Amino acid sequence: VTAEKAGFDHFMLKEIYEQPKAYRDTMGSRIDPSGKRIVMNELKMTDEYIHRIQQIHIVACGTAYHAGMVGKSIIEKLARIPVETDVASEYRYRSPIITPNTLVVVVSQSGETADTLAALREAKRCGARVVAITNVVGSSVAREADDVIVTWAGPEIAVASTKAYTSQLIAFYLFGLYLAQTLGTQDEAYIADVVTELKLLPDKVEQILQHAEIIKEWAEQISTHDNLFFIGRGIDYAVVLEGSLKLKEISYIHSEAYPSGELKHGTLALIEEGIPVIALATQPELFEKTVSNIKEVKARGAYVFGIHTLGETELVKAVDQVLEIPQTIPLLSPALSVVPLQLLAYYASLARGNDVDKPRNLAKSVTVE
Ligand code: G6P
Repeated sequence: VTAEKAGFDHFMLKEIYEQPKAYRDTMGSRIDPSGKRIVMNELKMTDEYIHRIQQIHIVACGTAYHAGMVGKSIIEKLARIPVETDVASEYRYRSPIITPNTLVVVVSQSGETADTLAALREAKRCGARVVAITNVVGSSVAREADDVIVTWAGPEIAVASTKAYTSQLIAFYLFGLYLAQTLGTQDEAYIADVVTELKLLPDKVEQILQHAEIIKEWAEQISTHDNLFFIGRGIDYAVVLEGSLKLKEISYIHSEAYPSGELKHGTLALIEEGIPVIALATQPELFEKTVSNIKEVKARGAYVFGIHTLGETELVKAVDQVLEIPQTIPLLSPALSVVPLQLLAYYASLARGNDVDKPRNLAKSVTVE
């Protein structure tokens, strides 16, 4: 078993460290040798079809749903197509408006999640085209979808998903760029810039992993608490939702992820002396507002751990502890900023003596609705 874990104590840690490879493998030949364009030969949809897409629904469960929330930002920004996200177990029951010009993107690591499969079938029944983003070639979801984008993360064993999630993000970047390039919603130079930055992500993840010790200390500090908050704005909010889920799944510490600006409309009442708050601030246009939200919780006694992009010094003054992550273009930051949050969950679970790879009550793949 130790051999399977390649010297790591747990599958989860091994899988966290496999992310640079998973990014490279998922990008693979989908980046044109010129380094400026995306090639997606696996897609059967025609350019003519892409021009007809009026709306996109992204449907998934759990961590894959959180990847879909980032996917919404990516597609809307790059391709300017309106996107809705739904939790798969809710999708069918809200009588969603699905037309033949609706593209439904289902996201599933295993490709076997019952709720996701049921949503896929409902979408097809209503005449939509379905794209599956999955890690398992030949899975049920892959077989039934019209198009399949495989994430080449390799087998994921730990129940808490890490490299599958980040590979799903990479798949969304590639697909979003592909749509933009087909629709002409972004100019070629911009697409080339994003592709260049995408290729730099694996090395930047390596750099973050070199700071795992800092996160381990943070995890030890939070492990004695029963409640904490994650805050972030914009795309950072989608990332903190995933960070909070990860922590709940394996450390059993209750946490809530909140859009920082919304705190003052209720949840701020829960901020009391010493409560840990993890603040993510990677988006330049929201930076100032985020810093003022951090000051609001600090003023009420919160102990704030801040994660921000290198070069923003204002945050350093506002928080109690700080971790800097490498710079990238703001849209790509989730592929970096989630990594410290994965490590935080891992080390908090470890500090509490939990079974990291097999958390109570949870299954890797849920095949009942
Ligand atoms: C289970 C797992 C989660 C996962 C979710 C969706 O609940 O414990 O980690 O995110 O299913 O799985 P899928 O295979 O569809 O991505």
